[in-house]
Amino acid sequence: MAASRWTRVGSVEELARRPLQQVEVEGVRLAVSCVDGELAVISGACNHVGGPLGDGRLDGDYVTCPWHGWKFHRQTGEGEPGFEEDCVPRYATRVDGGDLLVDLASATKRRRKPHARHPLDRPPGREPGDRVRVLGISTTNMDVAAPRYSTSDALLDTALAHAGGLGCETRLVKLRELSFRACEGYYSKAARACTWPCSITQMDPADQMDQVYEGIVFWADVILVATPIRWGVASSLYFKMAERLNCVQNQITLRNRVMLRNKVAAFVITGGQDNVQGVAGQALGFFSELGCQFPQFPYIAHSRGWSAEDMEENVRYVQASAELHDGARALCDRSVDLARRLIATAPEVHDHRAGRKASGFLSARASLPVLQPGPADDER
Ligand code: FES
Repeated sequence: MAASRWTRVGSVEELARRPLQQVEVEGVRLAVSCVDGELAVISGACNHVGGPLGDGRLDGDYVTCPWHGWKFHRQTGEGEPGFEEDCVPRYATRVDGGDLLVDLASATKRRRKPHARHPLDRPPGREPGDRVRVLGISTTNMDVAAPRYSTSDALLDTALAHAGGLGCETRLVKLRELSFRACEGYYSKAARACTWPCSITQMDPADQMDQVYEGIVFWADVILVATPIRWGVASSLYFKMAERLNCVQNQITLRNRVMLRNKVAAFVITGGQDNVQGVAGQALGFFSELGCQFPQFPYIAHSRGWSAEDMEENVRYVQASAELHDGARALCDRSVDLARRLIATAPEVHDHRAGRKASGFLSARASLPVLQPGPADDER
């Protein structure tokens, strides 16, 4: 048995003022809790991906991780009921002269009980099959019970119908029919707090963004995104989706792990008001950061301009415009043609840290499994 290493944590009076706090003693992160004047110390590094447990909150006797809510008993270090075997180290303590001392050598063993693997936690890659798969994503919002005519949806429908005629498999995701939470900013807490699969998707089985992840990351060869122009930018649902796709882009940043390879993205943009090029520029920039490729002339668009407030005319124009619907079919042709070439040649992908965006330091850890946390203090 290792010799004791009693070390001062701080004054009991000070530590007892807060129910939970994160402290670092000799390079070891600790979560110090106090309930009814009784202090207890467990590791300050969560079993999931290393969240700072002491910065979380107490739920009864359980320390709740501030990153994604995993819980550990403040005295025993055991996971919440059902996950007792998933435990973080606990430490022996004693009080001496008004100070709390912790025996760093007394740390119990950290044990990780594998949590059920999320279905999205699998290697990305093209699923077998010869036919090109075209995924349409409608981002316009409307009353699902009383739908209206959407010009962007109409052109997307035309493109998808054409893709079917080309022998492609097609799938349509309408964001308005999905219930999904807005990105909650885990990356803003700490880079590693943003995980793949998305932290929200792992925590909330009712969140339906998994359908978009499945479609974009695993299923599609071609991603056709349709958006209206709203106040000069893409729809709010487009941005809600894009924010949730941060976890895909962050895999590049954090692990130099490019999830989307040899996938084609193209866009349908329509609006009564203008700024087509601004909307297209944002979409092209974002999907390029995800790793997508683009056909020549990667978007079609329609706008009648600043003074065209007669929206009924706008609808009639798109309904009647053979040119616009031909354009949607041609966009589909260009996208499917490029996808076929990419599938046939499977060109080598040069990641190059995604244009120097991926972290050089963390890139060295690229071979780590998706969810494996870094070593905690007690495991180094
Ligand atoms: S729940 Fe603690 S790091 Fe995810």
